[in-house]
Amino acid sequence: MYPGSFDPITNGHLDLIQRGSRLFSRLIVAILRNEGKEPLFSVEERMEMLREVVEVYPNVEVDSFDGLLVDYAAARQATVMLRGIRAISDYVYELQMALMNRRLSPELETVFMMAHEAYSFISSRLVKEVFSLGGSISGLVPPSVEARLQRRLSKSKHKGA
Ligand code: PNS
Repeated sequence: MYPGSFDPITNGHLDLIQRGSRLFSRLIVAILRNEGKEPLFSVEERMEMLREVVEVYPNVEVDSFDGLLVDYAAARQATVMLRGIRAISDYVYELQMALMNRRLSPELETVFMMAHEAYSFISSRLVKEVFSLGGSISGLVPPSVEARLQRRLSKSKHKGA
């Protein structure tokens, strides 16, 4: 299982999904339903975007969850949780989460994969910021996601006008 916010999916996430799909017989990409985070895209939109880009991987499934991750993992009989680490700054938060999840559910193993160096500086937050300020995000997100961001931006500009 590869959980996250994916608001929106980046090429860094996609790289991890591709490599994860080779390591595991099945991979569930699980989007957290947490409206408290004030996401740019609804969970349904994020699921659509993810499904578009993972359809080439037959063993990858897209789903969403709320509540505790360990409960969702148990319900889906997932035994491994995959997370990506870009830099040492990610490690601190990821270690806390992994240890808390281990305490809650010792049978769920967290596996970390190093982000590809070409994507190690990308985050969904920065992609949204750069894009909204007119910077290029070409090569940082899948083309279908860039197109969706474009539509979302022109919609909000139109609204503001
Ligand atoms: O992409 P993100 O935002 O870094 O993903 C964080 C996520 C979804 C993995 C984390 O917030 C999570 O698992 N939330 C579910 C609630 C939960 O189980 N919290 C305790 C985690 S130790």
